[in-house]
Amino acid sequence: MGVEVRTEGITKSFGSQRIWQDVTLTLPPGEVSALLGPSGTGKSVFLKSLIGLLRPERGSIYIDGTDITTCSNKELYEIRKLFGVLFQDGALFGSMNLFDNVAFPLREHTKKTESDIKKIVMEKLELTGLLGAEGKLPGEISGGMRKRAGLARALVLDPQIILVDEPDSGLDPVRTTYLSQLLIDINSQIDATILIVTHNINLARSVPDNIGMLFRRQLVMFGPREVLLTSEEPVVKQFLNGRMQGPIGMSEEKDEAQMAREQAMFDSGHHAGGAEEVEGIIPQMRATPGMPVRQAVHRRRERVRQIMHTLPHAAQVAIQDSLDENGDTQVIPAYQGAYDTTAGHDLTNG
Ligand SMILES: Nc1ncnc2c1ncn2[C@@H]1O[C@H](COP(=O)(O)OP(=O)(O)OP(=O)(O)O)[C@@H](O)[C@H]1O
Ligand SMILES: [Mg+2]
Repeated sequence: MGVEVRTEGITKSFGSQRIWQDVTLTLPPGEVSALLGPSGTGKSVFLKSLIGLLRPERGSIYIDGTDITTCSNKELYEIRKLFGVLFQDGALFGSMNLFDNVAFPLREHTKKTESDIKKIVMEKLELTGLLGAEGKLPGEISGGMRKRAGLARALVLDPQIILVDEPDSGLDPVRTTYLSQLLIDINSQIDATILIVTHNINLARSVPDNIGMLFRRQLVMFGPREVLLTSEEPVVKQFLNGRMQGPIGMSEEKDEAQMAREQAMFDSGHHAGGAEEVEGIIPQMRATPGMPVRQAVHRRRERVRQIMHTLPHAAQVAIQDSLDENGDTQVIPAYQGAYDTTAGHDLTNG
C-alpha cells in the first residue's frame, strides 16, 4: 500500500522571493490527490520539495514517518526509491532512446537481468501507448509522447508514491481522458499514494479523492474533493471555471481597484468570456471494469466520515450524495464549528 506524505508548516523562498509559506497537508496513503494553482505559484517547487530535491527553509516533510528535511543523505536515497516522478518537462535523456530512458531507473536501482528489464519496460510502454516507439529519441517524438514516456519511466519501479507534474499538458482531450483513466487504474492496481499537479479542470473534477490549491503564497485549501468543488472561495471558483473575472490575473495577482472595476462590469451584465460555468460535482472516475476495486475508496469513506462534521455544509451534502449513490446511508451530522478553508491564512493580503 502507498505511504503517507505529510508536510508541516513548510516555507520555501529563493533568495528574497517567498514562493509559499506555512503549507501543511497530508496525502492520505493510497489516495489520489490533486494540486491546483495558477502558473508560478510554486506547484513544481512543492513537488520537488516532497522528494528532497529542494529544501524548504522551515517546516518538516514526513514520508512514511521519516522527516526528509533532517534525515541523512543515505536515508533520503532510500526514501527516494519509494517515488515515481514525472517532471513537468518530462526530463528524458536526450541522447537515449525511449527504451533506455524507461529502463534507466531499473538499471540504476535494481539488479534485474536485461530480460526482466525488457519485460517491465515493454509492459510500461504498452500501458502508456508507446509500443513501437521504443527505438525513438526524445527529440523525434511529439510533446505528448514525451510526457507519456516520462510517465512510463515514473512507473517502472512500482512506486508507492507517484508525483506527476502536469501529465496532461501537451495531450489532446481524448488522450487526457485516457491518461485520467490510466492514473485511476494504476491506483487501483498498486494502491500508490498519488499527487497530480494539473491545470486541467476536467481532470481535477473527475480524478482525485482530494484537491488542494496554491494561491498567493498560501495553500488556500486542501481536503476531500467535495470541499473544493463546492467552494464559494472566489479564487477557487474562478480557477474551476476558467474565468477572467476574479482575483487571478494574466501576469500577476490583480489589485483591489482592478477587481472592483471588473466586478462592476460583471454585475452590469458584461461577461468577460471564458469556459462555460460549471456548478456542482461530477461523479468520480472509477477503475476500468475488470480492474481491482480501488482500496482507497473504502479507507477514504471511513476517513471522511470521521471529519465530516468539520466540513462546510455544501461539502457534507455532496459527500452524503456520493455515499447514498454507493448504497451507504448516513445522516449528515450537525454542523459543528466553522470549517476554516483558509487554514488561518488571510486570503486578502497574501
Ligand atoms: N531553482 C530555482 N531557483 C530560483 N527560483 C526558482 C527555482 N525554481 C523555481 N523558481 C521560481 O519559483 C516560482 C514558482 O515556480 P514553479 O515552477 O514551482 O511554478 P508552478 O506553479 O509550477 O508554475 P506552472 O504552472 O507554470 O508550471 C517561480 O517564480 C520560479 O521562477
Ligand atoms: Mg510547474
